[in-house]
Amino acid sequence: MVSTSNIMRIVLLGPPGSGKGTQAALLRDQLGLAHVSTGVLLREAVEQQTELGKKAKSFMDAGDLVPDDLVLGLIEERLGQPDVARGFILDGYPRNLAQAEALDAVLERIGQPVDIAVSVTVNESEIVDRLSRRAIEEGRSDDTEAVIRNRLRVYAEQTAPVAGHYAKRGQLREVDGMGSVDEVNKRMRDMLDG
Ligand code: AP5
Ligand code: MG
Repeated sequence: MVSTSNIMRIVLLGPPGSGKGTQAALLRDQLGLAHVSTGVLLREAVEQQTELGKKAKSFMDAGDLVPDDLVLGLIEERLGQPDVARGFILDGYPRNLAQAEALDAVLERIGQPVDIAVSVTVNESEIVDRLSRRAIEEGRSDDTEAVIRNRLRVYAEQTAPVAGHYAKRGQLREVDGMGSVDEVNKRMRDMLDG
């Protein structure tokens, strides 16, 4: 059972542009959970030109996954921080089955297993609309048409199977990500309350 009064450890799954980051930020504010996004952490590393950032940049610019060992180090460090003990929302991790297994091991070690995985669904034309709009508004370097197409391919081939990892344990829920940000947030809250 999932209850908002208890600590919650949530994995958000969904294609690029499905609203994982947007919804995770709302849930962070509404539920007091830590928002852990590997995409944000990696973009910070690139910005700060750390060793990790220098290694990750070409993968991110191409829309490919950054190698697992690099991302695992990053996520282990983040999950070791004190705010995580009150519960967390993982956004953008795990991204393939090897990462899902590595995450299980890290969370077991710190005694904070995942409670629920939420898969946000959005159709492809909406994804392309949202990311093309963001390309104009924010200029994120991987929001170009060719790279969006590769991110969607990588998602279908490597990330979509991660849902099965949680489904096998009865931990997978689906939320319709179409509609306004507030509508999707309400569906999320209702699902987490239910
Ligand atoms: P990452 O940053 O995780 O990007 P992504 O998965 O491609 O997803 P986005 O951030 O584009 O979409 P989102 O689902 O968060 O939606 P958002 O809320 O932003 O990863 C980037 C790269 O980093 C990867 O390609 C990879 O190279 C690397 N990486 C990251 N994690 C990794 C890992 N674990 N392993 C290996 N490599 C990794 O919304 C999108 C847009 O739509 C926004 O402009 C938003 O304002 C808008 N929007 C949101 N909701 C709505 C709505 N309901 N209606 C209208 N517009 C909306
Ligand atoms: Mg995001």
